[in-house]
Amino acid sequence: MTTEFDKKTLTVGALLAMMNKLVEVDGEIADTEKERIAEIMDDYDEESHEITVGEAMSILTSLSAVDGHKDTEESTAIKELIEQHFDASAGENDASSESEDENEDETTEEAEDDEEESNEETEDVAESEETQKSHDEDIPDSTRTLNIDDEAHMWIHDLDLHYGNAQAIYNVSIPFERNAVTALIGPSGCGKSTLLRCLNRMNDLISICKIDGKIELEDDNIMTRGADLVTIRRRVGMVFQKPNPFPKSIYDNVAYGVRLHYNPSRRELDRIVESALRRAALWDEVSDRLHELGTSLSGGQQQRLCIARTIAVEPEVILMDEPCSALDPIATAKIEELILELKKHFTVVIVTHSMSQAQRVSDYTAFMYLGRLIEFDKTSVIFGDPNKELTRRYISGRFG
Ligand SMILES: Nc1ncnc2c1ncn2[C@@H]1O[C@H](COP(=O)(O)OP(=O)(O)OP(=O)(O)O)[C@@H](O)[C@H]1O
Ligand SMILES: [Mg+2]
Repeated sequence: MTTEFDKKTLTVGALLAMMNKLVEVDGEIADTEKERIAEIMDDYDEESHEITVGEAMSILTSLSAVDGHKDTEESTAIKELIEQHFDASAGENDASSESEDENEDETTEEAEDDEEESNEETEDVAESEETQKSHDEDIPDSTRTLNIDDEAHMWIHDLDLHYGNAQAIYNVSIPFERNAVTALIGPSGCGKSTLLRCLNRMNDLISICKIDGKIELEDDNIMTRGADLVTIRRRVGMVFQKPNPFPKSIYDNVAYGVRLHYNPSRRELDRIVESALRRAALWDEVSDRLHELGTSLSGGQQQRLCIARTIAVEPEVILMDEPCSALDPIATAKIEELILELKKHFTVVIVTHSMSQAQRVSDYTAFMYLGRLIEFDKTSVIFGDPNKELTRRYISGRFG
């Protein structure tokens, strides 16, 4: 926030609009939030009262219980709301002062263009707000817009998750289409990894974690007590952010899970290892060094080895938590290419911070924010014409 900003004032009506936007999650404002906003507004006359930016900041930060000085997601969102407010009014002022310009020389045409542009922008904002409103009213639950019920391979229903007393996931439902890639996106800490770990019950390893809801894999509810965790983790494999080969040979890394789950003959095992390495696009690079340590490979090769290890046990679903974040662009491109191959045989769920990666590899995208599913749709819709303003802001890099 600049000092110039601090001298500015805004109407309480503008503050109210910001408050409503700030607390709007999933297109709605909770009753408690409405009450808190009403309490604050009691002190002001909405239309005539002007407040300073500093005052507006402190009201907004108190409303969301964040520290305005810290760069948390919410405090950044608050600063952006204020900046956007002044950007929009600056646009209007520029347009009117340019149209009043008496200078009729060559700049006139430019000014007219600018004016047109700026008016278009204002109209766009009005229109997008209008469209946003009608979308929000029409679609209370974004997952209902998609009719992929018959195709869903896995399905999260009404999932709530707590770490101790802190709730990390709020009532999330997402279908995962068979032989498709679904990307989970959202700012750091929004619950992507937590949600991903639910899909193969890895959160069971965290003692303070408590989960309510249902997760179906085909027709089985994997959340039931007594469910066979070894089978679930074979059916739903996982690839982590940092390549983590075992300190064993390349061959043994891939053979490890196969030996655990089956009792193959040596010949059968050789065949499975080769096939998994081929499907992970690594065979040509390692076929003559299968007995060297897996950890001796490059980062990108190690990640493909981990993918080979995962697919060797013939899972149905593959979970990937930021699988390329530790890799260089070339290794990343190879993994992305591989993901597109893998989906022919498996259902893939990938967490990514890269918007371009989500667009390149995924068919569906789920956007999460503060533990909630804000929007789930075809990737082309999420990145082309999302229904929710929050999604639009996130994918255009305006927060997160
Ligand atoms: N083992 C844990 N114990 C307690 N809280 C946890 C644990 N793991 C995650 N959390 C909390 O749950 C919330 C969601 O975390 P999670 O790691 O799922 O976010 P994320 O979206 O994957 O973030 P990032 O993009 O940074 O990886 C955060 O508030 C985090 O602090
Ligand atoms: Mg994570």
